Amino acid sequence: MKKIHVTASTEYDISIGSGVLDELGRELKGLTKAKTVVLVSDSNVFPLYGERCLKNLKESGFDAKSFVFKAGEASKCMKTYEELLEFLCENRLTRSDALVALGGGVTGDMTGFAAATYQRGIAYVQVPTTLLAAVDSSVGGKTAIDLKAGKNQVGCFYQPVAVLCDTDTLDTLPESEFRCGMAEVIKYGMLGNARFFSELLEKDAKAMIGHIIEVCVTMKRDIVQRDEFDKGERMLLNFGHTFGHAAEKCSGFSMLHGEGVAMGMATITKAACKLGFCDETTVEFMDKILDKYGLPKTIPYGVDELLDAALADKKIAGSEINLIVPVKVGRCEIEKVPSTALSDWLKAGGVK
Ligand code: NAD
Ligand code: GLY
Repeated sequence: MKKIHVTASTEYDISIGSGVLDELGRELKGLTKAKTVVLVSDSNVFPLYGERCLKNLKESGFDAKSFVFKAGEASKCMKTYEELLEFLCENRLTRSDALVALGGGVTGDMTGFAAATYQRGIAYVQVPTTLLAAVDSSVGGKTAIDLKAGKNQVGCFYQPVAVLCDTDTLDTLPESEFRCGMAEVIKYGMLGNARFFSELLEKDAKAMIGHIIEVCVTMKRDIVQRDEFDKGERMLLNFGHTFGHAAEKCSGFSMLHGEGVAMGMATITKAACKLGFCDETTVEFMDKILDKYGLPKTIPYGVDELLDAALADKKIAGSEINLIVPVKVGRCEIEKVPSTALSDWLKAGGVK
């Protein structure tokens, strides 16, 4: 097992390895005075790992209960969040009790937000079971739910007390979800680690999944430690996300998050080349790696639709947008552009 320590507004360990799931009760026991623990999970993940986690929590002496919601981004909403809070009240959780988020980014984001707001904040543990959650959403304390107006429109920064990433859980992940996780993995290579990018191009990702998670989590940990509240460097983690979120929104959230990120990365890289920020080889490398992992490169929506969606995105502050622009493989920069220039960027990225 590998442990990575995070020093943010609070400190915690990220444990990565095979069988880490069975450390849940023991880990939580050492971190909180909780008596009751609510395990939050979705309708796909709970049948796979829920009972094992509940048993483990009970063996450590917790009164363990479960809250299971319908899987999918549509559940990361006010209604499920409210139902979860009501469930915590019905079960009389106090401020010293705890939540466990067992699942992907949807479960983690919503559980984290419920933990942050229930009785002004109770402890929670992230137990990521998707590659995307393992390399990104479970670390760093961004919690949120979606509104009709857009993704992650309500949320806060609230760090977990621990992250337990059991690499064995990825064995049951559908191939399409694995690919989507790879979009976030590629993001790390592109924004700050050219050597890692080459490894991803040359080697079989599945054969080195523990290493991949460690590299990404270490990079994210370092960025979060320097800029926990997303005022500067952390924005680099949004590479591919401005256009990606817009595409997801245009699809009514039927598009997977990682698909949006992949299209967003391909589009902004093409635009960056056209507008003189990077050269043609950067575009070729981006296209090659997205092809290798079977990820989409073209946004299937028009400029006007995407603009409408993007302008509701929270990253657009006033009349300026922080676009994350690649300058070469392994290096991205934050470029402040007027929101009126967004259509030019989309067109330069090949969007009609
Ligand atoms: P998800 O949580 O919906 O999981 C994807 C699918 O995989 C779901 O159907 C789920 O039931 C299933 N699943 C999960 N683990 C499984 C397993 N081990 N075996 C079989 N099936 C499994 O989505 P996601 O892709 O994990 O996360 C996307 C969400 O994360 C989005 O809402 C996005 O906004 C958010 N996100 C947050 C951050 C952050 O920093 N907080 C970062 C990136 C993304
Ligand atoms: N996933 C983006 C961030 O954590 O900042």
